[in-house]
Amino acid sequence: MTHDSKLREQAYEAVNNHHSDIKNDPYYPSYHLAPPVGLLNDPNGWIQWKGKYHLFFQWMPFHTGHGAKFWGHFSTTNLVDWSLEPIALTPGDWFDQNGCYSGSAVDDDGLLKLFYTGNVKDESGQRESYQCLAESADGITFSKKGVKLELPEGYTPHFRDPKVWFHNGLWYMVIGAQTEDEVGSVALFESEDLESWTHRGMIAKADRPPFSDLGYMWECPDLFELDGQEVLLFSPQGLEADGIDFNNQYQSGYVVGRLDYEKAELSHNRFMEIDRGFEFYAPQTTLDDLGRRILIGWMGVPDQNEAEQPTVKNGWIHQMTLPRELVLIDGRIHQLPLEEMKNLRASKRFCEDVKGEWSGSISRVSELQLEGEMEEVQLFDYTTLRYDRQTSLLTMERPSYVDGSMETRSCRLPKGLRHLQLFIDHSSLEVFVNHGEEVFTSRIFAKEDNRSLQVKGELNVQAWDLKNDTIDITSQGW
Ligand code: FRU
Repeated sequence: MTHDSKLREQAYEAVNNHHSDIKNDPYYPSYHLAPPVGLLNDPNGWIQWKGKYHLFFQWMPFHTGHGAKFWGHFSTTNLVDWSLEPIALTPGDWFDQNGCYSGSAVDDDGLLKLFYTGNVKDESGQRESYQCLAESADGITFSKKGVKLELPEGYTPHFRDPKVWFHNGLWYMVIGAQTEDEVGSVALFESEDLESWTHRGMIAKADRPPFSDLGYMWECPDLFELDGQEVLLFSPQGLEADGIDFNNQYQSGYVVGRLDYEKAELSHNRFMEIDRGFEFYAPQTTLDDLGRRILIGWMGVPDQNEAEQPTVKNGWIHQMTLPRELVLIDGRIHQLPLEEMKNLRASKRFCEDVKGEWSGSISRVSELQLEGEMEEVQLFDYTTLRYDRQTSLLTMERPSYVDGSMETRSCRLPKGLRHLQLFIDHSSLEVFVNHGEEVFTSRIFAKEDNRSLQVKGELNVQAWDLKNDTIDITSQGW
């Protein structure tokens, strides 16, 4: 038996042995993608290919910590009903033996090609990093083509997460990097054939203006055009909290600017956080056949008390966000739930006009929309959204799952608060503020039988019960 088939067999066995228990965990999501067993982190290889959407994910099937990652694989045709596909990549070769780390997918003349980072640690713990290729003609079975790019001079082996795209007849790749002087950066590469790659240079760096010190490592870069400008999305590590900004362990955000492909230069403005919640990291985008730029993020943050999350004792941890459409308004990204998310609705629960205080009961699998003058929204006696008109601050508060102390995340709303759309899925919450002007993404570990909703203000509140089982983990018959 090859090493690859052995690893597959062990991973399938872990799913078979544990998934049914995990699915019974009241915190396990109903319509968000989560690991069938073990740990899930970054979205990878996000693409619509031959009509079908494919989302791969960083997966550790054997425990709830990080380690030698597999690429798991989900697919969907309608962005609501997903199926788990066979494992795409196992960490079974010399160049990826300590993990098939994050990367992206492209269509090359009918072949689905995955670029990913082969993570290797030698006997002395020294890291090596290889950018690798795997390809598939059917979108299900992938054959590895080995190393396509080795570490160039000037960087440490913290060099990973290739995102590839096609522009004006050439292929380009950005890689999240750390320079030898331990500064976060993004490296740009160019290729005619996806086989040999030329290093064009560093297009952004943490100590280059307008930044002075934006971290020691940048992970998961993504570069794309939105409304005639370039957006560079990345996840920097090493930022200090600054008031209401940068409060998570690591951040995710973007700069907007122009990429001069000839000169390999990106002129850009300041760094803006893309999400204001407690758990969000390593987002990746794709352009679908309808021309939408769609983002999916990991609803987790590395090294942020992961081992303390309440689901660890049940053998699984983390989940993805919903897919979100990106638009650029006044130089800032707005994120909207896709139109297709309306198809998640199973039934309308209520539509109420509220003056003062009101309380009701909702499902743990819900969508809420609130419109009007909002002061406070409280979910499951656990998490509160509060708007302060004096300061224009919207604040989310929840008890820490580490020690129960209250913790907050906030954003400023210069034009006030008019609309909230909430997606609730057992232990997760995505709050779209003013139709995507800001988003709070967080895990919520409220008591499982609590259904309470309390609102304060002068507003309209609507609630829908959402569908319960849109992810088919068992389609492979494991
Ligand atoms: C981000 C990240 C990536 C890496 C992957 C490993 O969360 O650290 O940089 O490729 O996760 O799982």
